[in-house]
Parts: sequence; C-alpha cells; structure tokens
Amino acid sequence: MPVDVLLGLQWGDEGKGKIVDYIARDYDIIARFQGGPNAGHTIIINGHKHVLHTIPSGVFRDDVLNVIGNGVVIDPIVLSRELKALKDLGLDISNILLAKKAHLILPTHRYLDAASEASKGKEKIGSTLRGIGPTYMDKTGRNGLRIGDIESEDFKNRYERLKHKHLELGKIYPKIDFDFAEEERKWFDSLEDLKKLKTINCSFFINDALNAGKKILAEGAQGSMLDIDYGTYPFVTSSNTLSSGVCVGLGVAPNRIGKVFGISKSYCTRVGSGPFPTELNDETGEKLRKVGHEFGATTGRPRRTGWIDLVQLKYTIQLNGVDHLCITKMDCLNDFGEICLGTDYKVNGHMTRELPYRLDEKGIDVEYTTMNGWNCDINSLRNYNELPEEAKEYIRFLESYLEVPVTMISNGPERESLMVRN
Ligand code: GDP
Ligand code: IMO
Ligand code: MG
Repeated sequence: MPVDVLLGLQWGDEGKGKIVDYIARDYDIIARFQGGPNAGHTIIINGHKHVLHTIPSGVFRDDVLNVIGNGVVIDPIVLSRELKALKDLGLDISNILLAKKAHLILPTHRYLDAASEASKGKEKIGSTLRGIGPTYMDKTGRNGLRIGDIESEDFKNRYERLKHKHLELGKIYPKIDFDFAEEERKWFDSLEDLKKLKTINCSFFINDALNAGKKILAEGAQGSMLDIDYGTYPFVTSSNTLSSGVCVGLGVAPNRIGKVFGISKSYCTRVGSGPFPTELNDETGEKLRKVGHEFGATTGRPRRTGWIDLVQLKYTIQLNGVDHLCITKMDCLNDFGEICLGTDYKVNGHMTRELPYRLDEKGIDVEYTTMNGWNCDINSLRNYNELPEEAKEYIRFLESYLEVPVTMISNGPERESLMVRN
C-alpha cells in the first residue's frame, strides 16, 4: 500500500482539517509529517467546533490511528492542552501515537521566536510565535531535544544547557516580556502528560503498517507557498510543507507515495507578512474576509484576502505532483456578481506563467479572467450535478487551466458539506 497525501496549495488555512476529517473514514492511519502548533486545523461536527494544532485530524473517527510523525515539532504545553480537550469530550486518546524522533519546542524557543520578531521592525515574518523557527534551527544545528530523550537520565542537564544557550542568544535581541519561570513550570508539568502517550519508531511503524496493507493518509500543515525552500522566502515557515516532506517527515521512501490531494480555497488568503500578488485591499477583500470568517484559527489574526491565483496554483501543483484537487469555501462566493481568477503574471511588461524569483518586486502585475458568479446559496447541495451552471463553469475553468481533476468541492464548514465526484 502507498501513503496518500493531503496538503494545502496556497498560504495555509485551505480547510485541510475539515477535508482530512471527512476522508479519514477511508483510512486506518492519519499522520502529520511536519510543522507544529503553528497549525490550526478546524473541524466542525454537529455544530461543535474543534481546532487541532498538533494532533492529526483523524482523531474524531473511530478505529483510526493518529500518528504525530518525526518531522513535527512539539510543544508539550499545547499538546497536553489538546489531549485534555479531547479527553473532556470522552474521546479515546490511546489512538494517538508520538514519534520518538520528533523535536521538542522549549519555552525559550518561543521566547527567541518573539524576540527575533521584535527585532525585525517592518521586516517581520508575522510568525505565529509558537517557537517553530528556533526549534527547527536547533534541529538542523544538531542541538535539539527529542521526544525519545525525555526519559533519559541527562534530559534535565541537556535542557538546562540548551536553555542557557537560548538565553545567551536572546541578548542580541530587544528585551521582551516573557515569564520564564511560569512557562518552564507549565512545560515540565505538561511533559508528564506526554509520557502517557505511546511513542513509536515512526519509520518502522509506518512501513510495517504499509506492509500489512493498512491505508495511510499524510496530513500536511501550513501550505506549499510557506515551504522553506519553494515558498515566498523569507516569509515562510521553517519546514518542507510539500509532498516530498512526507518522506523525511514519516520515514517512507518516495516510491511509497500514492495519491496526492491538493487543497485550495475558491479564493486566496494569507496570514502574516509577505507577498500576495492577488491581494485585495478594498471592499471586495473585506467582503471575502467577512463571508469566509477569515480570522486565524491559531492566533485569531485577520487573514489577508484576494482572488484565486492560478499561476501560483499551477506552480504548487507541479511541486507536489497533485493528482486530485479539492476546492473549499465555494459557498463563500455565493454572493459575488463577478469572480476573478489570476491567470497570468506580467513581469516588466512580459506575460508569463512562471512564478518569478520574488513576488514582491516592482513591475509584477497579475492579469485576470472574470467569470459570472452564481448569485445563489449552494450550501445545502450535496451533489455536483445540482450546482448552478456558473459554479460548474468555474470548476471546469480550474480543471482546464490546472490540468488536474477537481474531485471534491466543499460548500460549508461542517463535516457533511462536501460534494465528492468520482
Ligand atoms: P486548515 O488550517 O487548512 O485546516 O484551515 P483552517 O481551519 O485554519 O481554516 C479554514 C476555515 O474555513 C475554518 O474556519 C473552517 O471551519 C472553514 N471551512 C472549511 N471549509 C469550508 C467551506 O467549504 N465553507 C466555509 N464557509 N467554511 C469552510
Ligand atoms: P495551517 O496548518 C496559515 C504562517 C505565519 C507566518 C509564517 C511563519 O493552519 O494552515 P511560523 O509560526 O511557522 O514561524 O510562521 O507562516 N503560518 C501559517 N499561516 N496557516 C498555517 O497553518 C500557518 N502556519 C504558519 O502566519 O506568516
Ligand atoms: Mg489553519
């Protein structure tokens, strides 16, 4: 059996949590392979909203195992809070497994993240301040602490040494408010909760499961345009968010990757700083934010909004090898007389469909195609054939431009608001 992959094709928040929760019923294992508590994956079941940060979105399905893979970075405080919320709902958390090789986010990683941002003035990344960048830096710098180290004798010493390094490094940044003692107390308390989770040797676990015929879905966090290598650097996150990240993040070989599901909103959003060529800083952008409730699931920040960018999507579809497209938030376009789609970039007067090295350089304009909206409520529809002709035309345009079939269309935040096409 191969590992299927589901990931975001834009700047995150495409609706991954909702779709993973839906299709998890067809899988035995859902596995997160990168990112950490910077993610906020929203799932709405029977009117109840759940936001997951570290735990995979298969956790609301019976008989599904949820693996937090070694590419994920873990803040014990956040994970412990998530576990408690699930326990309070009466859910079984013995179906959550934690990779021993996953790295730990220390309180001082969060401190460094905040202090580094404070030093940047106008150049701020707009980080979620969850300590993601500094933790991945310690991982590649070979200083990190991992889940598998927690029970080792020298854990406390190694923690102290790393903390000391962070405090020294922090001296280059402006002073910020951070309650070190309180954060450290919460961190060590939360570690006790993590010790109750089953830990695994992730690559062996995943490969054994595949060999036993189990169906596995890898759940991406963030989006392809936030990838450390191929995103809008430096306004990116610190992990490989692409399908290629699944191999290192879970310990599977490239030839074991199966279908890749790519998710895009019917428009586009971004939270945090950085270029966004189709951004709308006007009433239309405000309307998209309002109808789409575009406020961050992790930080509550208002998300920037704009039209869908097909040049950008073509790029991330190629990077990921997307086989199936899922378009979310179709219902959010119900009330737009005209819908625009970015189809070409004009760079210094030359038309191109190749994404430029930098998207924020002067002289880059986006060319749009305008289509008629459907001007009616599609939220209650469950069958693609029932969609108004204008909505079908919009989907056909995407398929023809992007050369990938749209096999899922999401038309509401609830679990069942989905049209699946075979
Ligand atoms: P993720 O990070 O990709 O899982 O996405 P988020 O949960 O951060 O943001 C997606 C938001 O859109 C959440 O509030 C979802 O409940 C909501 N959502 C997902 N799909 C749809 C949809 O088809 N229509 C509407 N109206 N909301 C949706
Ligand atoms: P999900 O999984 C949207 C953005 C931050 C910031 C940049 C770097 O919910 O789609 P970081 O904290 O990673 O150092 O921040 O990346 N970012 C996200 N934006 N959705 C996310 O996750 C994000 N995770 C990080 O806003 O611009
Ligand atoms: Mg999110």
